[in-house]
Amino acid sequence: MSDSEHRNSLTITDNRTGKSYELPIEDGTIRSMDLRQIKASDEDFGLLGYDPGYLNTASCKSSITYIDGDKGILRYRGYPIEQLAEKSTFLETAYLLMKGELPDKERLAVWTYNIRYHTEVHTNITKFMEGFRYDAHPMGILVGTVGALSTFYPDAKDISHEESRKLQVRRLLGKIPTMAAMSFRHSLGLPYVAPDTELSYTGNFLSMMFKSMERYYKPNPVLEHALDVLFILHADHEQNCSTNAVRSVGSSNVDPYSAIAAGCAALYGPLHGGANEAVIHMLNEIGSIDRIPAFIKSVKEGSGRLMGFGHRVYKNYDPRAKIIKEIAFRVFEETGKNPLLDMALELERIALEDDYFVKRKLYPNVDFYSGLIYQAMGFPTEMFPVLFAIGRTPGWLAQWIEQVKDPEQKIARPRQIYLGEECRDFMPIEARPKKIVDEAKFGMCRI
Ligand code: ACO
Repeated sequence: MSDSEHRNSLTITDNRTGKSYELPIEDGTIRSMDLRQIKASDEDFGLLGYDPGYLNTASCKSSITYIDGDKGILRYRGYPIEQLAEKSTFLETAYLLMKGELPDKERLAVWTYNIRYHTEVHTNITKFMEGFRYDAHPMGILVGTVGALSTFYPDAKDISHEESRKLQVRRLLGKIPTMAAMSFRHSLGLPYVAPDTELSYTGNFLSMMFKSMERYYKPNPVLEHALDVLFILHADHEQNCSTNAVRSVGSSNVDPYSAIAAGCAALYGPLHGGANEAVIHMLNEIGSIDRIPAFIKSVKEGSGRLMGFGHRVYKNYDPRAKIIKEIAFRVFEETGKNPLLDMALELERIALEDDYFVKRKLYPNVDFYSGLIYQAMGFPTEMFPVLFAIGRTPGWLAQWIEQVKDPEQKIARPRQIYLGEECRDFMPIEARPKKIVDEAKFGMCRI
């Protein structure tokens, strides 16, 4: 090792053997595979890192999104989220995420046209949408229908061709809002609304959601803009749970519809995209401002969490939450104040002064106020994670493309620490000891 290589390395001494190892440091990381050479004996497999939930493991190199969680910084392709939220549109931001640069006028026009062109869905999709129960959760419907798109576009399997990848990107960006709106209207038994290509991306989505008997649906410009900004704020967030799911599933070289369906499934969970829905349920359960202190006490005692608070990466105010809070007030001027707002503001005030939350650096995240806005706009709570999915789709796709093009990427396949039984011989059923089953408690079929 040269002098400069030595200065950029980590020396590890294995106290089991007394041996020392020098591991190169590159971009502030060591390669986990370099640990493998560290063995206690010749039969030893070699040292592994143990990191449930990937708290300190980088799974890829990426040039898409930068976050500094301690300083509350979020940038897409180098552009601060505050500037994009103020000056960009969702489709332009989607272009930026996908291609790395902001488009000129002509490129933006072509990009917009290409996505609009793909907003319609095959009539068979409307048919199998009808197979879902009337009360099916729209996010469950979205997971199913996005996955099913892979059967409509078998050409998508050809992930090695750039033109094919571009086509699937346009199709997904075009069709996800259409299927999202269909899932909502299905739950109400309302006829589906065809896409209106005269409207903006977000305006068209609002039309497909809420158009009634009127001949032309005109979105409220304040609400249309607010939702567009919310989509921008959700558009990417580096290696979060759903993006990791997209990359992990995508690493098997499956088509992007299957990979994005995996992202939707991950987003469905209450610890991720389901959190904004959970915030509304929580506020409804608390019921009134005077019950907030008792609720905070119960959270601190370990019964449940303060939903919409805390983040794996942000240990400071989530910059998206700041922007969303401002948007909330603008939206409420149009729609009237959401009655849950006062409770949310008071909950935030109390939590930010409370030692438990301060010590753990728990601040409102993107989901704390977004649900209140969605609710005021007329979206039912079940649609909240679906709205998140529409916003996150360009991020998932940009990350998927980056992964497909990255020669260092391999099929995702973590290791485990096996703590189970040693090798033992199969025992015929007659020879196995009887288990005592409490039939009254568990019923015959449960053991
Ligand atoms: N309310 C109360 N306590 C919390 C909360 C919360 N919302 N979040 C974390 N904590 C506490 C934990 O109990 C833990 O305390 P301890 O050290 O005494 O055990 C400590 O803070 C650290 O929590 P972890 O769960 O280890 O933090 P992690 O980084 O794994 O979790 C997460 C992050 C999942 C977002 C968590 O903060 C949470 O559950 N928040 C509520 C759900 C939520 O709002 N999710 C949306 C996230 S944003 C998004 O996905 C778009």
